[in-house]
Amino acid sequence: TRPAWEARADLVVIGSGVAGLTAALRAQELGLHVLVITKAAVEDGNTRWAQGGVAVVLDGEHDEGDSVAQHAEDTLVAGGGLCDEDAVREILAGGPAAVARLRASGATFDPAASRPGLARTREGGHSAFRVIHAGGDATGAEVERTLVAQAGGRRVPVLEGHIAVDALRTPLGEVAGVTVLDRAGTPGVVRAAAVLLASGGIGQLYQATSNPEIATGDGLALALRAGAHVADLEFVQFHPTVLYTPGARGRCPLVTEAVRGEGATLLDGAGAPVMQGVHPLGDLAPRDVVSAAITRRMTLAPGGVDDHVFLDATGVSGFAARFPTVYAASMAAGFDPTREPIPVTPAAHFACGGVVATVDGRTSVRGLYAAGEVARTGLHGANRLASNSLLEGLVVGERVAHAVAADLAAGLLPDPKHGRLPETVLAPIADRDSLQRVMSRYGAIGRDAEGLAVISSVLDLSTVDSLLWTHRAVEDAALTLVAQALVTAAARRTESRGCHVRTDFPERDDFGWLRSQLIRLSPSGQ
Ligand code: SIN
Repeated sequence: TRPAWEARADLVVIGSGVAGLTAALRAQELGLHVLVITKAAVEDGNTRWAQGGVAVVLDGEHDEGDSVAQHAEDTLVAGGGLCDEDAVREILAGGPAAVARLRASGATFDPAASRPGLARTREGGHSAFRVIHAGGDATGAEVERTLVAQAGGRRVPVLEGHIAVDALRTPLGEVAGVTVLDRAGTPGVVRAAAVLLASGGIGQLYQATSNPEIATGDGLALALRAGAHVADLEFVQFHPTVLYTPGARGRCPLVTEAVRGEGATLLDGAGAPVMQGVHPLGDLAPRDVVSAAITRRMTLAPGGVDDHVFLDATGVSGFAARFPTVYAASMAAGFDPTREPIPVTPAAHFACGGVVATVDGRTSVRGLYAAGEVARTGLHGANRLASNSLLEGLVVGERVAHAVAADLAAGLLPDPKHGRLPETVLAPIADRDSLQRVMSRYGAIGRDAEGLAVISSVLDLSTVDSLLWTHRAVEDAALTLVAQALVTAAARRTESRGCHVRTDFPERDDFGWLRSQLIRLSPSGQ
């Protein structure tokens, strides 16, 4: 099949969440011809579901004892020894300016009730109240609303309902555009000197996730097929608390950690506190610790494996006004959080790893950039600190626009006319339900060699000719490829660290494993 249509840009941005739109807006301001490709509607990404907020130490507003250095320290501790310290410091130091820019563009954050400045809450792993929020627990929605409005106002071209498939490569292996399926599934080509992956995460690898349907790892798969380095894929963060409904599937309503930041506690089925004696920060321990503790408690439940615990928020004053999103979701499920503990369970939430990128979004392949959840900048290490990801999207999104402009001006980027169509490949495609089932059973919290081998056995049931892609096939092939890379990394890492918990290797092994694993597909795609 030959491409039926062709477009051109200096920079093609894949994804329209916080990182993608921030980059597109800045790149356009810098005079680049930008095109955004997004596979659903522009506002449909993961960003708008973010609740808790943006972790940031604002100039002139921080509490006694808090500082960017302390925020960095908390990030490094949560990251379990695998963060890149320079990246952590640079990204977090860029936070105040990034938030100021967003506020200048019209974003409104909640004001503090009893002092000047913004309200600040705490989440797991934070040693201070530094998470700002909007609309109570609708921070992502406010960030996305602001960026979408700005992009609309400035007429940033956005192709909705289009899915990026593969990179165009020059004879030197640089990336010089992408192949794309339009809304009708008709293949086309976007030629561009630079491609920015801002395509988000991989939550749909699992049956229960806080992520929407679109989170299928497409950008990560594109990067792998383009020969880019990826790392830290084994660190999939499970949010400790999504609202539990029997047989929870697909996107489960998040119950923000800020609820615990405001005093709620986790209880097991017998009413005993889950986090007592587990960690000095108790219910506000880092997320990996809380999720693992809940999982352990569920497994030890009298009468066998239980599938949820409870969050008691009855003591949180003004709950409905402070957490309108959580309140509405709980009431819709038949639980009144102001009167009774609500059932919660961990669910897949965030890919801490991804395409290896600098804090300016440069990857190991010239012409290919990455920002946001799809990227692995070294900010998160083995476990992301809560509410660091909107901040990363804002900071790296801004920086990558400058990097692309600089690289283009310096003549470092390929001439898009040299981009060649990818060769046809037979891509393995696993049945999505089976994949989600085995990933949830054997690739979630608590893995072992035997279970990881079971996942591998369902990964190549059928293949599809890459010239015959459909939107669904692109997603399924992406999920399959990402699962292969993730399971390979998880099987090799014979220790437990951060979000990667091995029941057959329960200890952290700093002697053997205080390092990230770089993964790259060989040119033959193996
Ligand atoms: C939450 O509000 O608990 C989610 C925030 C995050 O994942 O960073």
